[in-house]
Amino acid sequence: MPQLSALSPPRTTTAVHLERVTKSYPDGPNTATALDAVTLSIERGSFTAIMGPSGSGKSTFLNCASGLDLASGGHVVVGGVDLSSMSPDALTRFRREHVGFVFQGYNLISHLTVAENIRLPLTLAGSRPVENRFRDLVASVGLTGLEERLPGELSGGQAQRVAIARALITDPDVVFADEPTGALDATTADQILGLFRTAVQELGQTVVIVTHDPRAAAFADRVLFLADGRFHGELHSPSVEAISARLIELGRRS
Ligand SMILES: Nc1ncnc2c1ncn2[C@@H]1O[C@H](COP(=O)(O)OP(=O)(O)OP(=O)(O)O)[C@@H](O)[C@H]1O
Ligand SMILES: [Mg+2]
Repeated sequence: MPQLSALSPPRTTTAVHLERVTKSYPDGPNTATALDAVTLSIERGSFTAIMGPSGSGKSTFLNCASGLDLASGGHVVVGGVDLSSMSPDALTRFRREHVGFVFQGYNLISHLTVAENIRLPLTLAGSRPVENRFRDLVASVGLTGLEERLPGELSGGQAQRVAIARALITDPDVVFADEPTGALDATTADQILGLFRTAVQELGQTVVIVTHDPRAAAFADRVLFLADGRFHGELHSPSVEAISARLIELGRRS
């Protein structure tokens, strides 16, 4: 695997830090708290999975930690930069250059080719893609030869590989993925999760996924459990069985 991050400057060991992050939504005359004073650090070069029951705040966590949405209180620090006080324009620019996203539905632009979709974050940022880096990345996600295809001509697994390459092209501080394998069969899902593992182990990338699937979470170094907007413990390099048991426990307490 080529060293894609070899040209980047040294970075701090914490990729993402949340300090007492709260997110509330208006709920009729009341307020609903989706994230309740969450404090958490995510180390650079780690693979983290977030699990929890529906409505526990997983997507809200991802949206706040990635700067897609602003927290109601507290601080979100990505790559040493505090997002809390940024203007919307500055936040958009920062996200484009420092954060990668992968979603369940791939979110590819249908009239752009595979190559154009992967280069999109660089095009939007007005940077020139480094050809070697682009070629290495396309090869490492297994898309060589498919560069000129349109998204409509790809399988689900191939489309998700494009989304992952697009998320990695800027060598971001962190890649966030919300249910990245939710639409894939088990074999294809394993390949995609293996790709995330490789990005972490061989490229030193930092990956955070949200998943309902204990099999998917078992690919991570660290599995965090969310319930009612708070983290309730974590497991390190757990087995599928250990994750399933913890989820059952978590279900009992809510
Ligand atoms: N835009 C919003 N307006 C109001 N309430 C919201 C909004 N987004 C989320 N919520 C509420 O915040 C809580 C957490 O939602 P969130 O989408 O983060 O859950 P989740 O863990 O991702 O669930 P799922 O597994 O179903 O995707 C829920 O009670 C939800 O109804
Ligand atoms: Mg969700």
